[in-house]
Amino acid sequence: MNQNATPSLEKIVPDAEDFLPLLGTDYIELYCGNAKQSAHYYMTAWGYQPIAYSGLETGNQESVSYVLRQDKITLVLTSPLQAGGPINDHINRHGDGVKTVALWVDDATKSWAETTQRGAVSVFEPDTREDGDGKVVLSAIETYGDTVHVFVERKDYNGVFLPGYHAWNPTIPFESVGLEFVDHMVGNVGWGEMNTWVDFYARVMGFAQLISFDDKDISTEYTALMSKVMSNGNGRIKFPINEPAEGRKKSQIEEYIDFYEGAGVQHIALATSNIIETVTELQRRGIEFLRVPNAYYDTVLSRVGEIDEDLEPLRNLGILIDRDEEGYLLQIFTKPVVDRPTMFFEIIQRKGAKSFGKGNFKALFEAIEREQESRGTL
Ligand code: FE2
Repeated sequence: MNQNATPSLEKIVPDAEDFLPLLGTDYIELYCGNAKQSAHYYMTAWGYQPIAYSGLETGNQESVSYVLRQDKITLVLTSPLQAGGPINDHINRHGDGVKTVALWVDDATKSWAETTQRGAVSVFEPDTREDGDGKVVLSAIETYGDTVHVFVERKDYNGVFLPGYHAWNPTIPFESVGLEFVDHMVGNVGWGEMNTWVDFYARVMGFAQLISFDDKDISTEYTALMSKVMSNGNGRIKFPINEPAEGRKKSQIEEYIDFYEGAGVQHIALATSNIIETVTELQRRGIEFLRVPNAYYDTVLSRVGEIDEDLEPLRNLGILIDRDEEGYLLQIFTKPVVDRPTMFFEIIQRKGAKSFGKGNFKALFEAIEREQESRGTL
């Protein structure tokens, strides 16, 4: 499994302080109304491989979890087995959404101590869990909304996922679509809260700010938002934080906050090294993406210059292109993947560029506004 690879701790973000340090994203846990059916969707449509299971058959009376993996991306889908309790409360308030962004560390005890000393609120203290495959140490702190970070120390563990989980080999078909790793994960926070959470990641986690966008960069005729991108020292963990800004109509961030009933994870960007193949396959399997007007492609090459790919397949699939000083990137965004207009995915292929597609913001947000219009939430 990916966690056994030797991580690079090379510092590429000079202002970051790597006192944890973070080795990568360990897993992302979603609380869902029906994890069994969500697991089927992520396997058949998104190409995740079944890895592990926890539930009644493994002695877990409270909840059921399905663990899925595609290359370095691990998803955990969890549903409660009874009425009441924190998982039900989370689903009742937020709908299906991300509860945990788990971070892979060398020392979960030290990570908990360093972050709580710097002001993080503890969710649980370092906790050693063991089974026949070894031991892991987990600890957790709160972040924005009801979202938490779990620190995962797994250097002494050889099991499929975590102690308590059994290997899971269902007959459900799955075939990878070429997704490789989590490129970044975006949090939406409320009015005036962006800097609070930017400060949190700087002060508590030692992150540094890579980029800032204000309402002049990210606004359309109607709506606006502001965003700052925070990164850890080795650049493996990048968390853009968005807040709504004043516009003539309701911004997509405000719509998210209204329907999620608070701050939460807005999108998870997944990297591929062949976006044309990945998106062709996802569209064939029924995943719906936002479309920009065809006119976007009439002028895009004059904005971004030469690219390796033919424009035609990019136009047919609706893939967007942007360039910065270091190279270019290709990206596309799904429509929300849950019932409420909240969480969605981005598929991204970087060809040198380290930025986030600023040149596409206007066309993209106009596409989102057309969707909001159809929902009556603009
Ligand atoms: Fe993104």
